Amino acid sequence: MGLTPALFFRLAAVVAVVDGGAAREKRTLRFVTVGDWGVRRGDGRRPSMEAVASSVDRYASEADVGLVIALGDNFLDAGVANASDPQWDASWRRPWINETETSSLKGVPWYAVLGERDYARGAGGAAAQTAREWDASDDEWRLPSRPCYVIKRHLADHAEIAFVFLDTAMFAPAFHATTADLYNASDVAAAMVALDDALRSAGDTARWLIVAGHWPMRSVSDSGGSRALLALLRPLFLARGVDAYVAGHDRALEHVVDGPLHHVVNGNAAAGGGRLDDAYLLGAVDEGVDVALATTSLGFTGHVVSTDAMATTFYDETGEPLHAYEQAPRANGAA
Ligand SMILES: *[C@@H]1O[C@H](CO)[C@@H](O)[C@H](O)[C@H]1NC(C)=O
Ligand SMILES: *[C@@H]1O[C@H](CO)[C@@H](O)[C@H](O)[C@H]1NC(C)=O
Ligand SMILES: *[C@@H]1O[C@H](CO)[C@@H](O)[C@H](O)[C@H]1NC(C)=O
Repeated sequence: MGLTPALFFRLAAVVAVVDGGAAREKRTLRFVTVGDWGVRRGDGRRPSMEAVASSVDRYASEADVGLVIALGDNFLDAGVANASDPQWDASWRRPWINETETSSLKGVPWYAVLGERDYARGAGGAAAQTAREWDASDDEWRLPSRPCYVIKRHLADHAEIAFVFLDTAMFAPAFHATTADLYNASDVAAAMVALDDALRSAGDTARWLIVAGHWPMRSVSDSGGSRALLALLRPLFLARGVDAYVAGHDRALEHVVDGPLHHVVNGNAAAGGGRLDDAYLLGAVDEGVDVALATTSLGFTGHVVSTDAMATTFYDETGEPLHAYEQAPRANGAA
């Protein structure tokens, strides 16, 4: 803890690789993703969020979950103001960790990325979620740096799972009005250099390479995905052997198969506030892309990664599985 935040951020600006923490090596690693998820008491979406939170808790009570990935639009609708904003407790820690029946998520780290709602108060609001690490280093929140950071986990046979977390606004700022004026072309270029570096170094040793960001690059609902992200990131992901890109934002659960790259869209842990009409799903996809799941159901995803397979299951808010698939690692030849 000797580094001042300012120095840490300067070092982290290159690429932060966060240590995997105490090695509790197992044959599988489980993780959960939730998107667009944090609302206050009194918000009409609260019952939906509580239902999803309780199902995630039940999932975690059945098997050890190593991490939760928070896919952005973490605090609806306007992010947090600072590292001690009461929303941390009201919209995150109490409903998701502290007040669920068994608190199975207690002590399980939440690795977060930012969405445009988290930017509603400008760059300061976004920085508040990064600053939380300094104010509450003993709690579950982790968002060490932007535009990207990497964490690694190891299975009992030493197979490495690398997760790369992106601040998608720094790659495609024009996708949303709240971020369009915050970053310019040279910021995007710098973000791409950092990401390429992160993927290259993680890919050297990782058997699995999983990327998480807020905005989807392929989606058949609402936004339709960001074409700018698709153009920038997809070629890089294919070249570096990324196995899956997990994103939030759209009020849907989607599994889009794009050659060897699986897109998981999961932006509906709270915000749906009820089921939307099927017309919400646009259905238009590029040639060669398969939509294996597209539903406006509320829910979350659960993933079980072993050396040779990753099993992904989409659950609705009651914990009922909606769709499951398994994939083999692209591996880049690393074992
Ligand atoms: C943090 O934000 C909250 C909510 O806007 C505000 O009430 C509080 O005064 C702020 N705290 C600090 C230390 O700025
Ligand atoms: C829940 O959170 C509150 C405030 O953060 C704290 O005072 C309380 O001890 C927590 N309860 C449990 C069971 O952790
Ligand atoms: C882009 O924004 C950065 C700050 O984020 C600034 O330092 C730089 O001068 C800007 N570059 C251009 C070309 O506007």
